[in-house]
Amino acid sequence: MERSKTQYVDNTAQLSSAGLIIRQKEPRNLESPFDQIDSYLTPTELFYIRSHFPIPSLDRATYQLRIDGAVRHPFALSYEELRSMRSETRVATLECAGNSRVFLVPQVQGAQWELGAVSNAEWTGVPLRALLERAGLEEDACEIVLEGADRGMPKEEPVPPEPISYAWSLPRAKAIQPEVLIAYQMNGRDLSPDHGFPVRAIVPGHYGMASVKWLTGIHVVREPFHGYWNTSDYAYWASVDGKPVRRPLGEMQLKSEIARPRVYETLVPNRIYTVSGAAWAGETDVTEIAVSTDGGRTWTEAEFLDPVRRHAWRRWKFNWLTPKQPGQYTLLARAKDAGGLIQPDRHDQNYGTYVINHSLPIEVFVDHFGGPRSRRRP
Ligand code: MTE
Repeated sequence: MERSKTQYVDNTAQLSSAGLIIRQKEPRNLESPFDQIDSYLTPTELFYIRSHFPIPSLDRATYQLRIDGAVRHPFALSYEELRSMRSETRVATLECAGNSRVFLVPQVQGAQWELGAVSNAEWTGVPLRALLERAGLEEDACEIVLEGADRGMPKEEPVPPEPISYAWSLPRAKAIQPEVLIAYQMNGRDLSPDHGFPVRAIVPGHYGMASVKWLTGIHVVREPFHGYWNTSDYAYWASVDGKPVRRPLGEMQLKSEIARPRVYETLVPNRIYTVSGAAWAGETDVTEIAVSTDGGRTWTEAEFLDPVRRHAWRRWKFNWLTPKQPGQYTLLARAKDAGGLIQPDRHDQNYGTYVINHSLPIEVFVDHFGGPRSRRRP
């Protein structure tokens, strides 16, 4: 397979029957084939899967979602009760905070995601806000801990003393935003086991770790939650009064990725090649996209294929007249957001092995051996 040419790629990667790239079989960690994404909504069977523990077995008939802690009226909901509440449908891009880790040099620990730990889907569910209103948040409620039914021993040090569940704590201010959903459908169909059946959280604008799958508990807490995932794993070094302080990850950072051509693809000289990709951001909009075909020396504006829609990606394209001169060329894409922020050109070390949102170099060959056959994975 062509993929083995790149220094970034895990040569042992295999494809699932649906065409997802297998990073780990159990628990299931499967990457979307980003170069094959042609539609705005990622088909559910090609949506990336990131799970820390085996899928818990949950049954609709006995399913219960508990809302408790710093609330005036704790309660539990059945699946049918949740389905009978007023629902909303929203499009949101999920990106795993470790997406593109394979581009870090030197290589680091963790799943070697390439470009496809990001996907875009339409989600249907009940706004978390409606459940919190019904429960009645206490004045001093500070965070909302979303807990999944999956359990196990995490692998990354420092490991906790006993098995834990997957849980993520959201700041109150984000939890009460209308876009945060307690979802039961994805792309118009009930959630699949891999994506959180029967119920999951969807936290648009935040990295994927916040969108807790197999959701069974919503616990309101009075002080910042210091569980394993919020502190040890999905955390970074913030600077507070000039001092490094450990903080949980949150908002997705501005990013664009090139879907086509693929790394080390061979293109025909002196011919139009449509470079394409997608760009997304957290709590802002992507407003401009530029492409460089000379390693960042010069940039040309590319064209968006999708309109602005908060929390959803925008695909884009750029017609490149490939050079007459055979050789190796480095392609880069660079997004700009509504606030004028430009995608960085290098990784911020304070994020460790996460938040890899700098412009990622896609090296290609221009050569007479190139052609349509090399554009697609066989
Ligand atoms: N929720 C539970 N219960 N367990 C998990 O392991 N993984 C999180 C999040 N929710 C996870 C979870 C991470 S790290 C990501 S990136 C997203 O789910 C991935 O969602 P997906 O598998 O539907 O793409």
